[in-house]
Amino acid sequence: MRTSRHNRRYTTTIRHSNIFRVSDVVDYSKKLFFSTGRIFIFKDNFLKFDAIKDESIDLIVTSPPYNVDIKYGTHDDSMSYQDYLKFTNAYLEVCYRLAKDDGRFCLNIPLDKNKGGQQSVYADITAIAKAVGWKYHSTIIWNEQNISRRTAWGSWLSARAPYVIAPVEVIIVLYKKQWKKIKNGVSDITRKEFLEWTNGVWSFVGESKRRVGHPAPFPVELPRRCIKLFSYVDDTILDPFLGSGTTLISCAQTNRRGVGVEIDASYCELAKRRILREALTEQLELERMTL
Ligand SMILES: C[S@@+](CC[C@H](N)C(=O)[O-])C[C@H]1O[C@@H](n2cnc3c(N)ncnc32)[C@H](O)[C@@H]1O
Repeated sequence: MRTSRHNRRYTTTIRHSNIFRVSDVVDYSKKLFFSTGRIFIFKDNFLKFDAIKDESIDLIVTSPPYNVDIKYGTHDDSMSYQDYLKFTNAYLEVCYRLAKDDGRFCLNIPLDKNKGGQQSVYADITAIAKAVGWKYHSTIIWNEQNISRRTAWGSWLSARAPYVIAPVEVIIVLYKKQWKKIKNGVSDITRKEFLEWTNGVWSFVGESKRRVGHPAPFPVELPRRCIKLFSYVDDTILDPFLGSGTTLISCAQTNRRGVGVEIDASYCELAKRRILREALTEQLELERMTL
């Protein structure tokens, strides 16, 4: 089989790359659940996370709990809205501390909330992020193409109290101090991807809970786009709410270093299994093909 130039470069990077810089991990023994040398899973409460050095992260990609009463193993997803905003403030502060000065943040959240009282979630979280110090860059609308969610009409065919629901989620794009990256690096985005993804309405379907075995996974396509658009090959990506490990699968597939934090041991185990199955086997296969 003929080896493409891209594959050869990719494989070389895998073989010769350093591990996620040892100096960036303050203490390996600290709640480290799994590591391949470039991919790290920590079983920890992210609000107390101090296992890696401050200012060591190039890009954060995550989807936090939405506070919509999802039955996670450990986390309580049914707080009061005020407590949810306090929780939001707390994780945004930890993320800020861990990001480099040119670090970026793709935060996947709902646009608003209808269940249990209407709330302007996106507007409120954006305001908190700015108060923490994050700077606003833009917003991507993720059209999940899921129309089956339309079940609550408020008042059917009546102006008395109808509900309007946008079947989309958003990805707020933030940065710490400066948007332009300080150093040059290798970008692996294609012309077609760049043209398509810089249009801020993304349309692709969500992930199946049953297939993945987690109550709220996002599809690999979401972190893949954020990672290829906003980071260089070999950059370090963080997901503070790792869940089933989707962001780290994407890191392994795009040759980035990845750090994931998850509070629930069974989701850490699931993430580890998915990474080994869906990402690393592909890399090993690629290496075998290019020898
Ligand atoms: C929306 S899910 C993330 C799903 C993930 N994007 C995926 O594709 O599987 C949020 C995750 O955050 C975890 N979590 C909640 N509170 C946490 C905390 N304080 N620290 C770390 N993880 C937490 C939950 O257990 C849950 O797995």
